Amino acid sequence: MLARAIRARIEALLPANLGTLAARAQALRRRVKEAVTDPMARRRLWERLLQGPFRHAVLAGAEAEAERILSHELKVGQRQPAGRVALIGCGPGDPDLLTLKALQHLEAADILVIDRLVDPRILDYARRDAKRIFVGKDPHGGSTAQSEINRILVREAQAGKLVARLKGGDPFVFGRAAEEMGALQSAGISVEVVPGVTAAHACAARVGLPVTSRERMRQFSVVTGATAKGMPGLDWAALAAPEAAFAVYMGVGNASGIRANLLSAGASPATPVVIVENGTRANERAVATTLADLTDCVSQLGLHAPAVIFVGLDWADAGLARPDHVSAYRRQPSPHRRAEEPQPGTAEARP
Ligand SMILES: C[S@@+](CC[C@H](N)C(=O)[O-])C[C@H]1O[C@@H](n2cnc3c(N)ncnc32)[C@H](O)[C@@H]1O
Repeated sequence: MLARAIRARIEALLPANLGTLAARAQALRRRVKEAVTDPMARRRLWERLLQGPFRHAVLAGAEAEAERILSHELKVGQRQPAGRVALIGCGPGDPDLLTLKALQHLEAADILVIDRLVDPRILDYARRDAKRIFVGKDPHGGSTAQSEINRILVREAQAGKLVARLKGGDPFVFGRAAEEMGALQSAGISVEVVPGVTAAHACAARVGLPVTSRERMRQFSVVTGATAKGMPGLDWAALAAPEAAFAVYMGVGNASGIRANLLSAGASPATPVVIVENGTRANERAVATTLADLTDCVSQLGLHAPAVIFVGLDWADAGLARPDHVSAYRRQPSPHRRAEEPQPGTAEARP
């Protein structure tokens, strides 16, 4: 049954007369090899022939048109192909969240320049012979400097390669894509940005947590919880407002600073907080707590990056209940707690 289902799927994806194209390509091999001697230029030529207008002409039985396109392609095929870079958002982990466009670039790329947060399963969709360069930026060291990454991208594209720069989530959300685009544009290299599913949206979806609602939450922001110099300077007063709803990226390492800043700016200790660690991956964890308990929750449960902290959002706002796979954390009352310390609310409580 499985084999039959797979066959039906493949047949649905492929044109019925694909055999005609295969036979035409087979007959052309020698002619193409003699006309285009550089292997990389020849690969590009084949890609164009098998995916572009030549393919359509052959499949439509338009022989004269196919021959016209082929002669032109053989004439220009020997030229050194221009390199290009695609800055590709690979989403939060689950390869099924890749866009079709990301997939097309992955399948075509000669070179993959890979961030630390890109899930290894995504690399299965790339060509086996594509060169892989890992440039992960580890928050605890062991990273490739941004200037070096820019240099690699420019170098490979100038050598005529198709470069897929793989980034976690969306390239334009805390992804330093602008710096890479700037370096490539200054070097006159063509660059395309392929959007990806950003971590906040993927994590919210995993736990069924709407980030806006018609009645109550009319705006939602994303903020960073860390910079190269430590805690970011954010508009804490605005974030502490009762109607504020936001997602903190790169925040678990600074959970206590985020909590302290929000509380001193007047946020209610009972503000709901939801943390999703390793969203969409096999080791995903999600927990609901309150602002008062944020630091204890992170340290006691040992929550680590990558994680998104949602502040000011809970299921009750949308008339929903907390899903079973999201645990609730509540700090145990301690006899030693100082009197002025805020008392924890429950994860379901609104400020
Ligand atoms: C340098 S930022 C990159 C964000 C990325 N460009 C995006 O759009 O999701 C890294 C942060 O993204 C968040 N993140 C990325 N992947 C995640 C995941 N699978 N689960 C939870 N948070 C994730 C974490 O806050 C992590 O510290």
